[in-house]
Amino acid sequence: MSDAPPTPAGDVWTVKRILDWTIPHLKSHGSDSPRLDAEILLAHARGCPRIQLYTNYDQPLTDGQRATMRDLVKRRAAAEPVAYLVGHREFFGLEFRVTKDVLIPRPDTETLVVDAIETSKPQAAPRVLDIGTGSGCIAIALAVNCPNAEVTAIDLSLAALGIARENSEKHNVADRIRWLHGDLFAPLTAGEQFDVIASNPPYIASAEIETLAADVRLNEPRSALDGGPDGLDLVRRLIADAPQHLVSQGRLLIEISSEQADAVTQLLTANGRYDDITVLKDLAKQPRVVRAARKD
Ligand SMILES: C[S@@+](CC[C@H](N)C(=O)[O-])C[C@H]1O[C@@H](n2cnc3c(N)ncnc32)[C@H](O)[C@@H]1O
Repeated sequence: MSDAPPTPAGDVWTVKRILDWTIPHLKSHGSDSPRLDAEILLAHARGCPRIQLYTNYDQPLTDGQRATMRDLVKRRAAAEPVAYLVGHREFFGLEFRVTKDVLIPRPDTETLVVDAIETSKPQAAPRVLDIGTGSGCIAIALAVNCPNAEVTAIDLSLAALGIARENSEKHNVADRIRWLHGDLFAPLTAGEQFDVIASNPPYIASAEIETLAADVRLNEPRSALDGGPDGLDLVRRLIADAPQHLVSQGRLLIEISSEQADAVTQLLTANGRYDDITVLKDLAKQPRVVRAARKD
């Protein structure tokens, strides 16, 4: 490893020894999951499933694997997220390809997906819209779990749409998702309506971006994070425009930060076209999604 202690002649870098060196190294460089990070990076460098590290603990690394691992550890220590380094992240039990063009899917977003699936599944052919699809994780998890759903996904980033489309091919739902490029509802045809509109928009207040962890701040797309002065620029526009694109009693689901629940509930109430306004909590019992139904 680049800044590892000098290796005595004849000493061998086994799987165990590399992990024993990498874990404290990543910890001292700020990783809060150094063992997991080290294992994922080493499995990637060796081209094997993580579990196989433990059955090959005493195996030496080849020179090529050591060189790859050295590079990965250096970049991780400089705050590059593991998902970008290995090129994928699991979400809702599915593997998604990720690059720096897309936000890394978060477990928090599974709250929104679970509710969108529960709402859609009982319907014969639910029409679902995902706004700000990024890697496509919401649209694809929904299409995989609701075989009758007709899914439309929109993003302002063409590069993100390319990754999302690739992910849909990998999960065999490419022919069930319509990908549209543009700003919020603009790419839809006039009067087009949906049973469910789901969105995880950028919702971090601009001034807070500088306070985020280096992994996020230095690597993830700003256009996926920055929600304007109070974080609610896109949320306001979604709430204002969604009623025209929802069927009567169709549902709008918006992911939020835990501090935004009251403000978003007020925006929905003040709009006057929504009822059944409910705040859903994530697994950590934090407010994570605001859900509302179009009145009448
Ligand atoms: C927080 S990310 C969510 C990505 C993905 N849905 C997820 O949950 O991981 C927000 C996404 O919204 C997209 N976006 C930002 N502004 C937009 C706009 N005005 N219209 C459509 N998409 C937008 C960004 O490109 C980004 O992919």
